[in-house]
Amino acid sequence: MKKILVTGGLGYIGSHTVVELQNSGYQVLIIDNLSNSSLDVLQGITNISKTAPSFERLDLRLKADVSDLFKRNQDIEGIIHFAASKAVGESVENPLLYYENNLNTLIYLLQECNAYGIKNFIFSSSCTVYGEPDTLPITENAPVKEATSPYGNTKQISEEILKDTCAVSSLKSIALRYFNPIGAHQTAEIGELPVGVPQNLVPFITQTAAGLRKELSVFGSDYPTEDGSCIRDYIHVVDLAKAHVIAMERLLKDQNETQFEVFNLGTGRGSSVLEVVNSFEKTTGQKLNYKIVDRRPGDVIAVYADTKKANEVLGWKTEKTMEDALESAWKWERKIRNI
Ligand code: NAD
Ligand code: WQD
Repeated sequence: MKKILVTGGLGYIGSHTVVELQNSGYQVLIIDNLSNSSLDVLQGITNISKTAPSFERLDLRLKADVSDLFKRNQDIEGIIHFAASKAVGESVENPLLYYENNLNTLIYLLQECNAYGIKNFIFSSSCTVYGEPDTLPITENAPVKEATSPYGNTKQISEEILKDTCAVSSLKSIALRYFNPIGAHQTAEIGELPVGVPQNLVPFITQTAAGLRKELSVFGSDYPTEDGSCIRDYIHVVDLAKAHVIAMERLLKDQNETQFEVFNLGTGRGSSVLEVVNSFEKTTGQKLNYKIVDRRPGDVIAVYADTKKANEVLGWKTEKTMEDALESAWKWERKIRNI
């Protein structure tokens, strides 16, 4: 059994990926410092895949602890690096926290890859690197725009760090640029656990429907889109998780064409905020309180992926619909709120 290290494996996307890795026969070692997750997630993963992954509580900012981890686990064949801080607004207020947590941790991991000859590395990047795109859908060749937040900048710099490292070592890396992940596992054993008031659309919707929030604010109705609200490419987290398994297989089998590769992970379809709201109401039968308010500073008008490269080169495609995602998100919300 090939052993894969999953950093941030108790987090939202990491936990769903651990399930898919285990279902595909990999041995998983999760490390997480629980800064944005809970130990309960381990039980959720175990309930779904009937296998308990190994877990160590470890803070990747502590270089000596990272070195020690690799000294004790010399059979790691690949790494999927999810661990990072991800709140865009917080990164503007506290940039050093973000540069430390998102860049130092990557560097320490890559140093260990060099030390132990670990060749296979998958990185969680983001469509945020494209900024406001010039053309839609967005291909991987679209220019990387000047970052509008320290968070976004850490993703751009991380990709450069990976590219430069791959150029001078045996490291092979795939950066996966996620569009907007939503939804939860269909069993409702794992899902998204936002801390405090959710910044993202779907958790805000489900918390509003659950009665935790009075109403959803729809940020802007005067954008140059059909209904005036912003357009995003919402991808089911389980589809996203499966792409990581395929990407890891590609690296392990040396099928990668260049040592550093980038793939968009989205559905290829854009949906407006109001379409998501309508779809939620229709799918779940829940009436959603919402009001239109001013634009949120920093929001781009429309983003959705060109998925041709991921479809043809990775051989991956999404299987789930927006309705599947919203239904699973609602099922998860009801479970954690006991409703
Ligand atoms: P998440 O916060 O749910 O998961 C990240 C996990 O990493 C958490 O469990 C957290 O406790 C852990 N972690 C953070 N810093 C750590 C450290 N120093 N040491 C050990 N563990 C640490 O986030 P997520 O939504 O699952 O995102 C995973 C990755 O995907 C991140 O790199 C994020 O930037 C990226 N991404 C997320 C989205 C999104 O919308 N969720 C979109 C694009 C990219
Ligand atoms: C989606 C749409 C909002 C909340 C962020 C990060 C990005 C990436 C994914 C990590 C927008 C609207 C939202 C609300 C609303 N993360 N909205 N009311 O902004 O596309 O991307 O998460 O890499 O980097 O910036 O996602 O879910 O916040 O917003 O109207 O209460 O929903 O304006 O149009 P976003 P989001």
